[in-house]
Amino acid sequence: MGEEPSVPVPRLRTAISVETDGWAHFDYVRMPDYRWGIFLVPKSGERTIGFGDNLGQPAWDDVPGEHRNALRRIIVTQADTEPASVEQQRQLGKVAPSIYDLRNLFQVNVEEGRHLWAMVYLLHRHFGRDGREEAEELLARRSGSSDKPRILNAFNEPIDDWLSFFMFAMFTDRDGKYQLAALAESGFDPLARTTRFMLTEEAHHLFVGEMGVDRVVQRTAGLMREGKEPRKEGAIPLDIIQRYLNQWFTLSLDLFGGEVSSNAADFFAAGLKGRFREDDLAEHKAMGQSYRLEVPENGKLVEENVPLRNAMNEVLRDEYVKDCQRAVDRWNKTLAKNGVQGLSLALPHRRFHRGVGPHSTAKFDPQGRMMSEAEFEAHKDEWLINEADRKYVKSVMNGVFERGKMASFIAPPAKGINGMPVDFEYVRAPGS
Ligand SMILES: [Fe+2]
Ligand SMILES: [Fe+2]
Repeated sequence: MGEEPSVPVPRLRTAISVETDGWAHFDYVRMPDYRWGIFLVPKSGERTIGFGDNLGQPAWDDVPGEHRNALRRIIVTQADTEPASVEQQRQLGKVAPSIYDLRNLFQVNVEEGRHLWAMVYLLHRHFGRDGREEAEELLARRSGSSDKPRILNAFNEPIDDWLSFFMFAMFTDRDGKYQLAALAESGFDPLARTTRFMLTEEAHHLFVGEMGVDRVVQRTAGLMREGKEPRKEGAIPLDIIQRYLNQWFTLSLDLFGGEVSSNAADFFAAGLKGRFREDDLAEHKAMGQSYRLEVPENGKLVEENVPLRNAMNEVLRDEYVKDCQRAVDRWNKTLAKNGVQGLSLALPHRRFHRGVGPHSTAKFDPQGRMMSEAEFEAHKDEWLINEADRKYVKSVMNGVFERGKMASFIAPPAKGINGMPVDFEYVRAPGS
């Protein structure tokens, strides 16, 4: 420990090796001392490519010349999201709802920082000079910058309250899980081994998001059961929670890319990016099959059958949506358990509020019904985060740094981290 820590000292999980007992070492760590290792899941014998046209051929230890540009682009796009999320979240510590949550924020942030490091390592090690230049660019871009923004939209959105943070960790980081899972299948072995290790850490981020929302819902439901008005108690009403859900879910749907994509087909064919849990599928070529889509055309929805390989973004999105629905079901159980009748949260239709792909060319309501631009505008504030919501949610963000205490809008977690009690000193105050 340093002499005079001027920053809070969280109790963090630090990966010190990829062995089962090495990747989760818990201790108090001053942030500047956090260890940024590069971890690759160990090689297990000769790996072969598990899908696409190169099925069964040995996986590549070096970048094949013909896939160099595509692989670089895939790695840069993934890498760019890691520091972006830290930039988005960098002011949240000041208004943490508890030191338990503050500790989780630090944990998520150091790991995202390390993920950038791991991806930059691939660029430096395997892509020569253009890899080094791309790595420099990763440092030059900034979330929300008008000049050099981050590559993907959701990573330029402001996150200045904890409801946004939990929704981000639930929905946007979950896109990361599916992208990483698709890259963990890659024929480029160093990428597959790097992303496999990152996935073990991502699981905690998703837990922080899903359970964070769950605790916000629990607090609101508890007050409603007592016949109290959530707003009067500094909690967040259900309609605001629903709008935050709508906004972050749909922004995150866009991250999967267009419904029909020749890039996605090429990446699959070449063995660069597979499907979610490709190993569990019955066949790995995805040839001669099609995927049925409904797309807007001249003011109505028409059916289209596209070759399965061209629908790979949508295939991955299907898995993601299922996973999100599971979490929403959990939140609704929390509502019901707390005696809230007749009210529930719901995922909006995947056509709603899209900025990418064919659905972005028309307007839809949260049930997926097509509507005019004017109709959409008239209802927008009921469906998406509005100014009053932002103001209200911000007004209940007050930093709570006393052991075991929680802010007014959130219930305590069911249990602590790593077997510690909920009122454990998860973060030591600066100078203590
Ligand atoms: Fe990450
Ligand atoms: Fe993450």
